[in-house]
Amino acid sequence: MSIQTRYGPWAIVAGASEGLGAAHAEELASRGLNLILVARRSELLQSLALELSTRYDIETKIIVQDLSAPDAAEQIVRNITDLDIGLFIYNAAFSAIGPFLERSLDDHLKEIHTNALTPLKLVYLLAQQMLDRRRGGIVLMSSLSAFQGSAYISTYSATKAFNIVLAEGLWEEWREQGVDVLVCVSGAVRTPNYIASEPERTGGLGDMTMHPEQVVREALTALGKQPYVIPGRVNRMASFVMRHLLPRKVAIQFMGRVLRGKYMQV
Ligand SMILES: NC(=O)c1ccc[n+]([C@@H]2O[C@H](COP(=O)([O-])OP(=O)(O)OC[C@H]3O[C@@H](n4cnc5c(N)ncnc54)[C@H](OP(=O)(O)O)[C@@H]3O)[C@@H](O)[C@H]2O)c1
Repeated sequence: MSIQTRYGPWAIVAGASEGLGAAHAEELASRGLNLILVARRSELLQSLALELSTRYDIETKIIVQDLSAPDAAEQIVRNITDLDIGLFIYNAAFSAIGPFLERSLDDHLKEIHTNALTPLKLVYLLAQQMLDRRRGGIVLMSSLSAFQGSAYISTYSATKAFNIVLAEGLWEEWREQGVDVLVCVSGAVRTPNYIASEPERTGGLGDMTMHPEQVVREALTALGKQPYVIPGRVNRMASFVMRHLLPRKVAIQFMGRVLRGKYMQV
């Protein structure tokens, strides 16, 4: 069954204006789905919507919304009550990098709102319609940093762990009711956001980064077949070692060393 038949006619991408979100939007448009594109930067959304609707002959709707706002999910859903949504992709994230106490409490709470509360609420508000017609898909984006505690991004990685466990549970709960849930556990991807947070040093990890289009394609291929996907063979191997071969304490310390080397001036 094509993606359009299985998950159409409308898909919503939360965090769609650039990077992985824009790549999700482009891939879905190329497969004939109409798109609701959500993010904060209106101009980027408008030009993406125009480009995709022209190139792929699809319908688009943009919603300018800050996903860290406590009522973000309700605001979005209020705007789309008339649309038949078969696919929901939550891509947006906020990552406050740095020593835990050097980031404000507001930053930590913003991570929880953007990365955990808003996706949870949107899943809650969008899934019933999918379950009622026994057809739909939900993709939550997560990160390899969520497989163990990750120093200097502790709250971010904790929110991403929440997404993994949430999606896995819902995959099992809904898999026989026609709604596919997937968590995409990504390694480093060369998105504008990643590049901006990456210090000068791009050797090592820089060489392991993936392109957004590859990640999106692997995610859509896995949707409906399994509860989670780790895009990229190297990432799958690295995560196997981290999760199954190293003692958890050693994995946490290793991740800490990598992140310290990457983000701290030590
Ligand atoms: N890039 C990586 O290396 C990497 C690695 C592991 C996991 N991931 C995961 O992949 C996803 C994408 O990450 P990314 O950092 O590479 O970003 P991205 O896909 O390049 O862009 C993030 C998108 O989310 C939107 N967004 C961010 N905060 C928002 C907010 N508060 N309200 C509304 N929209 C918001 C941004 O648009 P506006 O700024 O216009 O709002 C942008 O369109 C995240 O879930 C991340 O955890 C990424």
